[in-house]
Amino acid sequence: MRKRIISGLVLAMMSILPTMAQWGRPVDYFAGPGLKDAYKDYFTIGVAVNKANVSDPTQIEIIKKQFNSVTAENAWKPGEIHPKEGVWNFGLADSIANFCRENGIKMRGHCLCWHSQFADWMFTDKKGKPVKKEVFYERLREHIHTVVNRYKDVVYAWDVVNEAMADDGRPFEFVDGKMVPASPYRQSRHFKLCGDEFIAKAFEFAREADPTGVLIYNDYSCVDNGKRERIYNMVKKMKEAGVPIDGIGMQGHYNIYFPDEEQLEKAIKRFSEIVNTIHITELDLRTNTESGGQLMFARGEAKPQAPYIGTLQEDQYARLFKVFRKYKDVIKNVTFWNLSDKDSWLGVNNHPLPIDENFKAKRSLQIIRDFDAAADKRVPKDDWVPNPMNQPGQEYPQVNSEGFARFRVEAPDAKSVIVSLGLGGRGGTVLRKNKDGVWEGTTDGPMDPGFHYYHLTIDGGVVNDPGTHNYFGSCRWESGIEIPAPDQDFYAWRKDIPHGNIQQVNFWSESTGKMQTCNVYLPDGYGKLVKGKNGKLTQERYPVLYLQHGWGENETSWPVQGKAGIIMDNLIADGKIKPFIVVMAYGLTNDFKFGTIGKFTAEEFEKLLIDELIPVIDKQFLTKPDKWNRALAGLSMGGMETKLITLRRPEVFGYWGLLSGGQYAPEEINDTKVVKYIFEGCGSKENPDGINKSVESLKAAGYNAEGLISEGTAHEFLTWRRCLYQMAQSLFK
Ligand code: XIL
Repeated sequence: MRKRIISGLVLAMMSILPTMAQWGRPVDYFAGPGLKDAYKDYFTIGVAVNKANVSDPTQIEIIKKQFNSVTAENAWKPGEIHPKEGVWNFGLADSIANFCRENGIKMRGHCLCWHSQFADWMFTDKKGKPVKKEVFYERLREHIHTVVNRYKDVVYAWDVVNEAMADDGRPFEFVDGKMVPASPYRQSRHFKLCGDEFIAKAFEFAREADPTGVLIYNDYSCVDNGKRERIYNMVKKMKEAGVPIDGIGMQGHYNIYFPDEEQLEKAIKRFSEIVNTIHITELDLRTNTESGGQLMFARGEAKPQAPYIGTLQEDQYARLFKVFRKYKDVIKNVTFWNLSDKDSWLGVNNHPLPIDENFKAKRSLQIIRDFDAAADKRVPKDDWVPNPMNQPGQEYPQVNSEGFARFRVEAPDAKSVIVSLGLGGRGGTVLRKNKDGVWEGTTDGPMDPGFHYYHLTIDGGVVNDPGTHNYFGSCRWESGIEIPAPDQDFYAWRKDIPHGNIQQVNFWSESTGKMQTCNVYLPDGYGKLVKGKNGKLTQERYPVLYLQHGWGENETSWPVQGKAGIIMDNLIADGKIKPFIVVMAYGLTNDFKFGTIGKFTAEEFEKLLIDELIPVIDKQFLTKPDKWNRALAGLSMGGMETKLITLRRPEVFGYWGLLSGGQYAPEEINDTKVVKYIFEGCGSKENPDGINKSVESLKAAGYNAEGLISEGTAHEFLTWRRCLYQMAQSLFK
């Protein structure tokens, strides 16, 4: 029988803890629609490709599913395709174009004129002497016409001029030995020969060759205040002079810390004043603090990256795309610079893309794809109050009436602060530094009602939020927050009713060789003399519920975050139950390690409970010391313990309860007389079908079974508070 129980438990555990079941198992974040389909009402989604990307079947499949715009990473750059006068390298360039033609994917033509990877031969004659700008223009014109004519059938937009403006941070520069205010233009060979006229010429040549293509000026660091204005001024001036610039390309070589939404929006808004097309042409997010069009970070072999770095990257991708979606009227394309981390020009070390070095999607890809359009527009209601779990005098964290939570943490020199509590597998809420240097953030949406554990990760180190009290869960004292629930009255303090009390009982446990602690709820009136059947005054005796916590919790979990005492007081005061004692003992479950569920037998705890704890309780308290006045119930791991122990020792307990802790099958019990009542419950976000079916089959087999599905909750304490409230009403009847 034991084998069957245990394998049943493994299944139960897998189903009650869906997230746990995923641990260690690879998740396919590609599952779902392609990015291009998810964004069909917003903008096209592009990728920069190299030779391998369009040759390898796996990579081809990824491109075809995810993207509807392709940029050749290097193959079309003047220095690559046209390295010498009269020498053209069309091979790779053609193969990328043909791949796109065959698959019906449109291209961005990158790039026709750039200071880097340029056809530098255009600047000199056969003897190596500088040519006049007219000669340069003739050569540039021929180059642009040749490339554009060859590919314009498959190209919808051209990066005509790339990176012509100067970077921020250089207010002055040396020219001919003199320090002068820095030019807004990059001091390229092009600029030195032609001034900014080369920009106008390049656009004119491109327009001649392609009357309908979208002509883009492309640059990096467009979110920097100075560079943004330089680009704005240049494009404005050119357009006013009739230069055919249709749009601005913001390269988007960003990082996990930068830019914030405000800075990005400033640039998009500013550029929208002068163009109605913006492309995000080269998106990637470095995991260090570098950004921009130059590479300073060492490339190299992939190093594993700390999970919190991944969380920051996911969050940054989510924030940037939210802004992109907001400006969909002007943003027409978002292109990732490279297919995977393996291909990235930044090196795999930087892990900058939503697809990893093994061509597997990261969670970033899922987060970018599965956005919630309604949530994009949602603004939380402004009726914040301090969380009821806060330490005295602490204003934060706060909750609002919709169930949003917002946090504030002071950590002046930190680079990142993440709250582990958040929505939808995003790994938490990433805070941002506000203008006063304080970290702030709000959950993406309403949290489930009830109690949640959480902690902070500050630059990778885990600490608690000094704003709240601590609660034992996940094998540590965690911070906690309480989201108002519609039915919160059943676990609220009431001043107008009598209250029981909770005592701490310490006892020596021979089997574990140490002192053990449990908390004992005694109802109001405990110990008072009452008239017995024979008319004599006597002390009333009570039934006992042994109520177990879950994995990583301890004997404080039920009385504190579980609010077991308050729930009991309220039930008794409302006449819903007759008073009984609740014993909440430490269940030794913290020794349980993930991956060893199959070996978990609860034998240690069984010994402690039956041979040591129950005798102590029956000796010290006014109990009715028999099976039909004794119940065992537990949540999660405590439910597993309950199931194992009640089935092995049915003579000890007459009432059994599993709270998000699996189910009984009738054939595991095989005797309707051993148990008077079975309770099984879980949250609606857990495995309600399993509970409903199990309760049905138990009833059909003649057991007195009851189930509860807690609406709108998961594997958390509001589920168990509701279960206790329900179950208590059927015990000892
Ligand atoms: C990069 C390529 O990805 C690298 O392979 C190459 O060695 C250098 O150029 N801005 C641009 C892109 O416009 O063309 C650059 O691409 C990255 C910065």
